[in-house]
Amino acid sequence: MATVDLSAYGEDFTADPYPYYAKLREAGPVHHVRTALGNEVWLIVGHAEARAALADPRLSKSPATVGRRMLDEEVIGPYLLVLDPPDHTRLRRLVAREFTARRVEALRPRVQRITDELIDAMAPAGHADLVEALAFPLPITVICELLGVPLADRDAFHAWSTEMVAPTGQEAEGAAVRALAAYLDGLIEDKRCAGPADDLLSALLRTSAEDGDRLSAAELRAMAYLLLIAGHETTVNLISGGVRALLTHPDQLAALRTDPGLLDGAVEEMLRHDGPVETGTARFAREPIRVGDTVIPRGAAVLVGIGAGDRDPERFPDPDRFDIRRDTGGHLAFGHGIHYCLGAPLARLEGRIAVRGLLERFPGLSLDPAAGPLDWLPGLLMRGVRRLPVRW
Ligand code: HEM
Repeated sequence: MATVDLSAYGEDFTADPYPYYAKLREAGPVHHVRTALGNEVWLIVGHAEARAALADPRLSKSPATVGRRMLDEEVIGPYLLVLDPPDHTRLRRLVAREFTARRVEALRPRVQRITDELIDAMAPAGHADLVEALAFPLPITVICELLGVPLADRDAFHAWSTEMVAPTGQEAEGAAVRALAAYLDGLIEDKRCAGPADDLLSALLRTSAEDGDRLSAAELRAMAYLLLIAGHETTVNLISGGVRALLTHPDQLAALRTDPGLLDGAVEEMLRHDGPVETGTARFAREPIRVGDTVIPRGAAVLVGIGAGDRDPERFPDPDRFDIRRDTGGHLAFGHGIHYCLGAPLARLEGRIAVRGLLERFPGLSLDPAAGPLDWLPGLLMRGVRRLPVRW
């Protein structure tokens, strides 16, 4: 099978990959591609095949299984998305109880208050960069409070973590990983010195102190790393991408304003239509795996096209249409199988509260016509813009 060079598609692909995914899907559900950073991977673009791959135990999450290495795992430690059972099961169990629908529901008043304060602060100006004013500070404030991370540090680690999920180059990515690892070491040391506190990181620290073989120092650092990154790099793009979708589809915006009961469905459609995660994190074939007429060879790296799968007309009729009333059941925005997003209830809560807050407070909300072209995050992992100028 010929290798598809995604970098040849240029900026158009970064801004709107869906027409390219549609073409690839017409030719077959999986393709061998070269990414903009020069990596060669197998990319799955059909919905049924993507869903199956996300839950396929023949696809390992651990690069070591096939003799490969991953920079962040090497520098920071083993985190859930690079582990298979039984290690994955053990570590996920330690944090899963903090993120159940019930625990997250208890955060509702706090999420509402943070949202209200952010919207109060942006209101007088009549215009704002929505990313800077709301989409970024809301999820990062929530996850920092949950973990017990000083809010003052957020700008530094935001810059590192964005570089890691949307790398601009291999050197910059390496520097960001090392800076983040050093930051997390300092943070954990501060917590250790400060003694017992009522936050998740302190609770995990107690777990490791009381029962050393349950959570090693590297595992603790890696858990903090994953929760911090996953807890804010994604939801920022749900809020900014979702609002952008509404503002560019005035009929859908009007329908939602008329019937706020459509909100939950609207957020699901935002996730399906142009969700924050474009491909899952890497998987590795333990053995040759047949997808459609193609056999992915043993040892190969595989990316599951979540965004591509969620635009598959076989699963979602007229898939490019943004329709807040459609049946979005089975969308893959939060993944599927044992690595299904731990933070889905929290992300949904934040997304719904943010969108509702904006629509209630700003009846005349619109994209800023004076803004230039959107600056899209590079890479295949994330969909999102660095800034979203709006006015009201
Ligand atoms: C709209 C926002 C979000 C989206 C679209 C999203 C999406 C995803 C996806 C697709 C995966 C699976 C990746 C794969 O299998 O390769 C995942 C895993 C994960 N997410 Fe999220 N996520 C979001 C928000 C959050 C939040 C707020 C948190 C934190 C609290 C979080 C924590 C995690 C964790 C810890 C995993 C790894 C689970 C495991 O490996 O068992 N996510 N997320």
